[in-house]
Order: sequence, then structure tokens, then C-alpha cells
Amino acid sequence: MAFLSDTLGRVKPSPTIAVTTKAAQLKAEGRDVIGLGAGEPDFDTPANIREAGKRAIDAGKTRYTAVDGVPELKAAICAKFLRENGLTYTPAQVSVGTGGKQILYNALMATCNPGDEVIIPAPYWVSYPDMVLLAGGTPVPVICGIETEFKLTPDQLEAAITPKTKWFIFNSPSNPTGAGYTRAELKALTDVLMRHPHVWVMSDDMYEHLVFDDFEFCTPAEVEPGLYDRTLTCNGVSKAYAMTGWRIGYAAGPVALIKAMGTIQSQSTSNPCSISQYAALEALSGPQEFLADWRRVFQGRRDLVVSMLNQAKGIRCPKPEGAFYVYPDISGCIGKATPAGTVITNDEVFATALLEETGVAVVFGAAFGVSPNFRISYATSDAVLREACTRIQRFCAALV
Ligand SMILES: Cc1ncc(COP(=O)(O)O)c(C=O)c1O
Repeated sequence: MAFLSDTLGRVKPSPTIAVTTKAAQLKAEGRDVIGLGAGEPDFDTPANIREAGKRAIDAGKTRYTAVDGVPELKAAICAKFLRENGLTYTPAQVSVGTGGKQILYNALMATCNPGDEVIIPAPYWVSYPDMVLLAGGTPVPVICGIETEFKLTPDQLEAAITPKTKWFIFNSPSNPTGAGYTRAELKALTDVLMRHPHVWVMSDDMYEHLVFDDFEFCTPAEVEPGLYDRTLTCNGVSKAYAMTGWRIGYAAGPVALIKAMGTIQSQSTSNPCSISQYAALEALSGPQEFLADWRRVFQGRRDLVVSMLNQAKGIRCPKPEGAFYVYPDISGCIGKATPAGTVITNDEVFATALLEETGVAVVFGAAFGVSPNFRISYATSDAVLREACTRIQRFCAALV
């Protein structure tokens, strides 16, 4: 009898975590490494939110809570959806979990049966396909290339839908490309979905607050109210409020789905951390002004990175609308060799050689389903980004 489960055999460990680990290992060996792999803001959690966490501890909010969130936080989440997205939800339609990740996982576990298909536009966040596989479903990646700025077209969505499609996962702005769908682009997709009433929509709005220039964030249930009854609108405090370690994510949708997600959570992790829930309550209902300052900082970094990468030989880097990632195309580097003699046959070889020969850690595109590319997380200082991009420029210039 095999000790490990067949389920485990269907999934792989997160490649983004693997890159971060490798970079940390080289650093520990004394190498000069710049890690651009991790997907988290470099800012500290704002003081008012940290204080709310401390107050929660001192007030004894340290016991089990309701499995899918305390009533005060659920009320704040309903207020957030109304205020920022024009969406009306009741607390019974809200689930709070241990990060956005658990929310998405619960939803897939609660709904996927063998044979159920889940449409995932690629490049995708690395966890979507593996979570679908863990849940017993079948991921259906749809390749969205640089020619559409990594965005899914209505024709592609239409062609991917079958009678077995259960979910369409939508993520804007996107990890790993930063691409954001305009209202018109999203409406064109929701028009397709309106013709297929059996398809549910899982909207991952994790990067809602990280949008640049005059880009306006929008979400499917708001753009097409006809989808409200089959949409799970997912979000969290990790990225917007620099709270990745606090582990709070949430979603709102139809009561039956929310109840089912609560059942999965009740038999696995129970409630998300009580202290973090009160910190998240402060994040969602406290001052929001700092978000605009953070956006300005991220926008400056995006402009710096896009400009410097486009000056690197063989690299093409579109300018994304949001998040803190860029996803440059490296077609112009494929087939060339580094001074150390490594032939760049694909983006994984590129990323490995870049790390070993220049100390810059990026995540290779194959991990996100579209190649040849790599992802940079620019959630670090201008000085570090300038140095990293200079090294990338030198690395590319030396390829022959
Ligand atoms: C698109 C996307 N969704 C969800 C998550 C999960 O966020 P959390 O840290 O809240 O679990 C991430 C984190 O990287 C993400 O990039």
C-alpha cells in the first residue's frame, strides 16, 4: 500500500516559494542575491491595524470564534462591498478564511466533482490549477499571450466552455502579469457567461486596490448583475493592507455556497486567527487614505522596471495596469548562450542562469502557464530594482 495519497501525486509544490527558498539559500551562503520572487508588499502593516491586533489580544479575543468569521468583521466586509463595489451582501453571504488562498480552496473543495472543468486564463496564479486538481476537478488553462496583453478574449472564453464547465476563474489585476480588465473588456466576457447559465464565476479581486494611472477596477457581479447569483467575489487584506502574515481572506456569494465552504472550514482549520480578524476589521473600516500613497509608490516602481527591462536586449515588457508584477517576454533570448556557456533553451533555464550568474531571483514563466517569460515582483525599493534591472540588462547584453 502506498503511504502517500494519489491526490498528492496530482499537485506540485508552489514554484514561487521554491524560488524564494533557493534565493534565501544562496544568500545564506554569502552570495549577493536580489530576490524578486516573493509576492508581498515590502511595507509594514499600518500602525492602526497593528494596534487593533494588540488591543484584541489584551481584550481577550483569543478564543475560538464563529467558524467563518466574527459578526463585526462580516458586517465590515458587507460595508466594504457596498462602498467600493456597489455590491449588496448580507453577513450570511460572507465567509472569512485563513487568507485568500483558503477561501478559494474551500470554494473549489465544496463544489468540484470528478470531471468538472474549471477555466483558468493563463498566465495564472500558480495555485489555481493545483487547487482544482486537489479538489478532484480538471483545470482548463486558456493561453492568453502578449498580443492581447495577457487578457482573455470573449471568443477564447466561448470556445473553452463545455457542458462540464463548473467555474470560470477571473483575476484582475492579475498575478503574474499585472494585467487589468477594463469595464468594457470585462462586460464582453460577462456577456459570454450570460449565455451559459451553468457556469459559475470565481472572481479573485486580491489586487483591487493596486491599480495605476486612471485605471478603474471592476468586478463581474458589479459589471453584470445578472451573474450575482452564480458569482463568488473573493478578496482579502493580504496585498492591499500589507497583511500577508496575518492570514485573512474573505468572499461573498450565494448562501448555499457560503454554507458549504463553512462546512469544509469547520472540519479542517476552524476559524481564522481571532486576533487577525480584529486587525482586518480595522483595515477595512479604518482610514484608507494611505492606499493612494502606496499606489503612487508602486506606480513609480512599475514605470522604472518596465522602462529598464524594455532596454534589455531580447526582452519585451508590456506596461501593466495593476498589482506589483511585470511579466516580460524573453523570446529574443531563447537559443542564445551565456558567457558561462549555458544555452537558454527555455524560461526555466533563463531564470536559473540569471540567478546563478547575476544573483537576481525571478520566477520562470512556465510556472504560470505561459512561456517564454519571467515574473518580477517589484515590491521593493527603487535602488534595489535599479540594481536588479541593470544586472538583467548586462546578462541579456552578454548573451550570444
Ligand atoms: C491572485 C492571488 N490570489 C490569492 C492570493 C492569496 O492571498 P493570501 O495571502 O491572502 O492567501 C494571492 C497571493 O499571492 C494571489 O496572488
